[in-house]
Amino acid sequence: MAEYRIPFNRATLMGNESMYIAQAVANSHISGDGPFTRRCHALLESVLGVRKALLTTSCTHALEMAVLLLDIQRGDEVIVPSFTFVSTVNAFVLHGVRSVFIDIRPDTLNLDEGLLEGLITPRTRAVVPVHYAGIGCEMDAILEIAKRRGIAVVEDNAHGLFGKYKGENLGTFGCLATQSFHETKNVTCGEGGALLINDMRMMERAEIIREKGTNRSRFFRGQVDKYTWVDIGSSYLPSDILAAFLCAQLEAREEIQARRKRIWEYYDMCLTDWAQEHGVRLPVVPAHCEQPYHMYYLLLPSLEQRQALIAHLKRRSILAVFHYLPLHLSDMGRELGGKVGDCPVTEDLSDRLLRLPFYNDLTREEQDRVIDAIRQMGM
Ligand SMILES: Cc1ncc(COP(=O)(O)O)c(C=O)c1O
Repeated sequence: MAEYRIPFNRATLMGNESMYIAQAVANSHISGDGPFTRRCHALLESVLGVRKALLTTSCTHALEMAVLLLDIQRGDEVIVPSFTFVSTVNAFVLHGVRSVFIDIRPDTLNLDEGLLEGLITPRTRAVVPVHYAGIGCEMDAILEIAKRRGIAVVEDNAHGLFGKYKGENLGTFGCLATQSFHETKNVTCGEGGALLINDMRMMERAEIIREKGTNRSRFFRGQVDKYTWVDIGSSYLPSDILAAFLCAQLEAREEIQARRKRIWEYYDMCLTDWAQEHGVRLPVVPAHCEQPYHMYYLLLPSLEQRQALIAHLKRRSILAVFHYLPLHLSDMGRELGGKVGDCPVTEDLSDRLLRLPFYNDLTREEQDRVIDAIRQMGM
């Protein structure tokens, strides 16, 4: 990829990462579930108020764990937005689960809860709300429908660490929730994730699935005198070296969030007039949602204008990027039966959305350069 003067994303060290990694090495415990992993678990549990957090190698793997934990079987159905990352859906498809795509709301770009009930069939086992850009889905309505119809709620909270819906942390609503610590996220360790468990009945089995189907976690706690194969599973736990990096980032969360808030609000302040003048829609954050300042996007009036703005910024060495292509229209989605018109709001908005450069150490000067370039764009 070409080098950009202002990239879309850049990993930012917050200070203690190298020191903690050196400590992990000095601890002689660089496999999973070492001291730094335990520190990350404790921190996530206390800050978010979840019953149990388990670090995973990615959000993708946390989603795969959720499918195994819910015991969703071949031929069952899951309701997922088409406007999401492939892993939200692929984790289920991998196990022969049929994905039923739900369209999004035009304001928050989250799944349209008004469509949910109509998509539930006797085979539906779960719905996966994705909190797009960390702005909460309408959880009251989703939870009410899910409870009444007996289906599980798994929050894909890849974008939404520290976001809130009606005062409660995202990730605390579903029986399970998943986080991503990929390099593009507010808090990162390069590649990583977490499974948040709110239904304690799944706790013990989650540990087993994460440890290759063995009860090794119980063995390490001295609860059994040897460990053995007790269930299905895989290797979903990250090295303590990665956990050390993540721990440094999680401990710096207030600084990270404060910086990102300044960046988000500056884009918003500087682009409001321009957006109004040019028919561009800026992100909508409902009053009952507190956002984690994960992303700043523009919704251009047309695909052509979006592409023109990408090219205009590229000429100024600024990388701005589109986001999810509708999954139901991807090669795989079409193979599974998706066709044009299934999710009209997704199809329209996906063509028009543009994400602006956003990383923890984006400087005011860089941001001014992006904003000036956008303003110079004749539309
Ligand atoms: C909504 C959503 N879910 C899941 C993922 C997968 O995350 P990971 O790269 O940690 O597997 C992403 C990645 O960006 C995402 O945007």
